[in-house]
Amino acid sequence: MGTEFNKDAVEKAYARWAPIYDFVFGALFARARRASIDAAERVGGRILEVGVGTGISLPDYARTTRLVGVDLSEPMLRKAQAKIKELRLTNVEGLALMDAQRLALPDESFDVIVAQLVITTCPDPEAALDELARVLKPGGEIVLISRVGADKGLRHIVEQGLTPITRLLGWRLEFPWARYERWAAKPHGVHLIERRAMPPFGHFSLIRFGKVGASAKQENRLEAPVAG
Ligand SMILES: C[S@@+](CC[C@H](N)C(=O)[O-])C[C@H]1O[C@@H](n2cnc3c(N)ncnc32)[C@H](O)[C@@H]1O
Repeated sequence: MGTEFNKDAVEKAYARWAPIYDFVFGALFARARRASIDAAERVGGRILEVGVGTGISLPDYARTTRLVGVDLSEPMLRKAQAKIKELRLTNVEGLALMDAQRLALPDESFDVIVAQLVITTCPDPEAALDELARVLKPGGEIVLISRVGADKGLRHIVEQGLTPITRLLGWRLEFPWARYERWAAKPHGVHLIERRAMPPFGHFSLIRFGKVGASAKQENRLEAPVAG
C-alpha cells in the first residue's frame, strides 16, 4: 500500500472517516475549535471555513456571522450539508467541493479564514496557505488550528517514524513550526499575530495571521461620526 500524501489519498482517508468523524474527533478538539471561532468572531464579517469537513463547527458560530465552507471530501461535505438542514443554519451561505490549494474564489473576498486541523492534511500546505492569504481581505485574519511537530529530539524521531501510518489516516505528524515561519516571511502581506498552545497534549496551536491594510469595516469605524 502506498504512503504518498496526495489528493487521492486524502480523499480516500476522509471518505473512510466521514461516518464516524464527529464521534471520534468531536470532543477531542472542542476547546481548540471554540478558541478559533472566538478569534474569528472578534474580527467578524464574512468567514470562510477551509476544510470544513462534517461542518462540526458550523453550529457554534453566532447566527449573525456569514459563513462559507469548502472541503476536498464529498462524503465529509454531505455530512455538513445534513447538519445545516437539520439545525437550520441560515447563516451558512453555502458549501463547495474545493481544493484549498486552488480556491475557486475571488481575491480579497473574506474577512476571516478559519482552517481547523487542515493545513497539515494538505499535500502542499504552503500552496494552501498562499491561497488563504490571497482570498483574505486587507485587515482580515487567518485563524488556524494546527498540529505543530517537533523540530528535533525524540518526539521528532517518533513523528518521522509514524508518518507513513498517519498519512494513510489522512494527516502528517512531521510539520515543524519553522515551516510556518518560513511561509510567514514570504512577501504576501501576511504576518504572524499569535501562536497559542492548544489541547490535546499541547501539540496543537491556535495560529493567527493578519493581512496588512484596514478592512472596509475598520475604515468605516474610523470614519464613523462621534456621538454627542
Ligand atoms: C482533520 S479534518 C478537519 C475537519 C474540521 N475542520 C474539524 O475541525 O474537525 C481535515 C479536513 O480537511 C479536508 N482537506 C484536506 N486536504 C484538503 C484540501 N487540500 N482542500 C480542502 N480540504 C482539504 C479533509 O477532507 C477533511 O475534511
